[in-house]
Amino acid sequence: MSLLSLDHIRHRYDKKSSQNVLNNVSVSIEQNDILALVGESGCGKTTLGKIAVGLVKPSEGVVSFKGSDISGLKGSGYHNYRRGVQLVHQDPYASLNPTQSIYETLSAGLIRHKLCSRRDRRDRVKDFLKTVGLDPTDDFLHRYPHQLSGGQRQRVGVARALVVQPQLIVADEAVSMLDVSMRVSILDLLLQLKEDRGLSYLFITHDFGVVRYFAEGYRIGVLYFGALVEEGSCAELIERPLHPYTYTLLSAVPIPDPRWNRSRTPVVLRNLDDTAMPAQGCPFVQRCPFSDQHCREETPPLRSFDGQHKSACFHPDRIPSNLRSASYAT
Ligand SMILES: Nc1ncnc2c1ncn2[C@@H]1O[C@H](COP(=O)(O)OP(=O)(O)OP(=O)(O)O)[C@@H](O)[C@H]1O
Ligand SMILES: [Mg+2]
Repeated sequence: MSLLSLDHIRHRYDKKSSQNVLNNVSVSIEQNDILALVGESGCGKTTLGKIAVGLVKPSEGVVSFKGSDISGLKGSGYHNYRRGVQLVHQDPYASLNPTQSIYETLSAGLIRHKLCSRRDRRDRVKDFLKTVGLDPTDDFLHRYPHQLSGGQRQRVGVARALVVQPQLIVADEAVSMLDVSMRVSILDLLLQLKEDRGLSYLFITHDFGVVRYFAEGYRIGVLYFGALVEEGSCAELIERPLHPYTYTLLSAVPIPDPRWNRSRTPVVLRNLDDTAMPAQGCPFVQRCPFSDQHCREETPPLRSFDGQHKSACFHPDRIPSNLRSASYAT
């Protein structure tokens, strides 16, 4: 039984709109697991994350927590789900209440879920500040968000999610506003918490460099225009993408190797907002270098190649087999 599963999720914010923001997406996350969700701006990542934490109710489809459909949960069952699945936002400044001190921010979850007595509250908050590396804790307790650096605010965001002892954290672009060294230290903190507490992550990002670091040994799902077009292990998907969209995204990732840079012409994609969804066929057809008549007429289903590696493409064989060596200068 999965910790969280999203089955056949469709969503549209505007009921009158002809286009779904999410189109039949199914993903699942186990205990002590990572699923990284990648895709460009506007493809529906945050919407899926909000559906996972229960902030948005999907237009169609089922969200299950430990095997139970959350739409049927009541009382303590619903409480356990809301407490068990927490969100860490992209912009901690926007998501933290500027009028609340760090102590008040972190106490709120403890109070809401009745997790400790009033007498122990201060010590518990200090424990969590220490866990996320905000030490000496007394220095941070009574500061306000504007008195912290971006990295420190993001650590408060992580601590706020942790105080309720979740099993799954939806990290939505949790490091994209930070500089590189701070980014690595927050990613390391999240990975350490996974080891120490058996946490799972739905890790949302548009950055393959970050995914490669964070999801090594776990799975990646690629979203395109609200559809899951590829899913596979981190190593397989990056070394041997089976969807042209993944291939083009990967071709745009800078690799610190002069031979690579000389030979490679990254494929530049038009902004998703400027690209209309084709009325029929593969959603990627207008941008795909490998498409043919079949792709224009029929939508390729997501199907398995090599066991766990899935792709929604009719012609994965047309994609160069090894992204790295295929583009090397000789
Ligand atoms: N509350 C809302 N009401 C109406 N439309 C929305 C709402 N939130 C998002 N959308 C639309 O849904 C689509 C998907 O948005 P979403 O925020 O899920 O994308 P995203 O992949 O997270 O993008 P980004 O990488 O820029 O954060 C976009 O076209 C967006 O304009
Ligand atoms: Mg987003």
